[in-house]
Amino acid sequence: MSGGFFITGTDTGVGKTCAAIALMRALQRQRKTVLAMKPVAAGCLMQEGILKNDDALALQFHASLPLPYPLINPYAYAEPVSPHLAGIHDPVQLAVVTQQFTLLKSQSDYVLVEGAGGWLSPINNGQSNADLAAALALPIILVVGIRLGCINHARLSLLAINQSGLPLAGWVAACTEPDMAYQQDNIAFINTCLAVPLLGVLPYLSDINFDLLANQIDVSALDIGR
Ligand SMILES: Nc1ncnc2c1ncn2[C@@H]1O[C@H](COP(=O)(O)OP(=O)(O)O)[C@@H](O)[C@H]1O
Ligand SMILES: [Mg+2]
Repeated sequence: MSGGFFITGTDTGVGKTCAAIALMRALQRQRKTVLAMKPVAAGCLMQEGILKNDDALALQFHASLPLPYPLINPYAYAEPVSPHLAGIHDPVQLAVVTQQFTLLKSQSDYVLVEGAGGWLSPINNGQSNADLAAALALPIILVVGIRLGCINHARLSLLAINQSGLPLAGWVAACTEPDMAYQQDNIAFINTCLAVPLLGVLPYLSDINFDLLANQIDVSALDIGR
């Protein structure tokens, strides 16, 4: 029994990493072994001789098994800019990512893969997150950062995900703003537009607590018995 999901979002900074960790924890509560990757990360600091990124470190920390950092994040770029610019001297090769994903998958029930930016954000000069997800052949989970403009971003993301032919397994509403007007109405509207299971509404927390966020996730819609 094994599987995985590609975690994309309506933009950068919409709550993908927090949602991924909440999902990991929710799956782990179902006695699943869960690992996660951030294959492409821009904005890294040198730590113990290698470039490391905060998202990848968080995913490493919450994994069910201890994993060497480079396996989680094969492409770690120093500059906090789009990967097609940051990685100009060491561009992403999908074959490297798929090989490492396969290795992680062989050790676990689930591997969650967090994208870089949004669905069509480039990962190198010729390919985007859509190509990365297609290479991994993973169902998609869309994280929508609930803020003004998110309906448009959610609908555009849906169109583009559908164009890829990959299944959208579900979506997560990430309330990254403390007091957005008509928050529940926006979530309800997006839920109608996306027409896939809403896996959870992650409330705004001034202090992130992954146990509380995981409480809001319903993984039963993900058909995790596969
Ligand atoms: N439920 C939440 N409540 C409050 N802040 C949140 C929540 N989820 C995410 N954030 C904050 O929003 C920012 C972006 O979240 P992150 O998960 O890093 O997004 P992404 O991975 O899409 O870039 C971070 O500062 C994070 O702490
Ligand atoms: Mg992130």
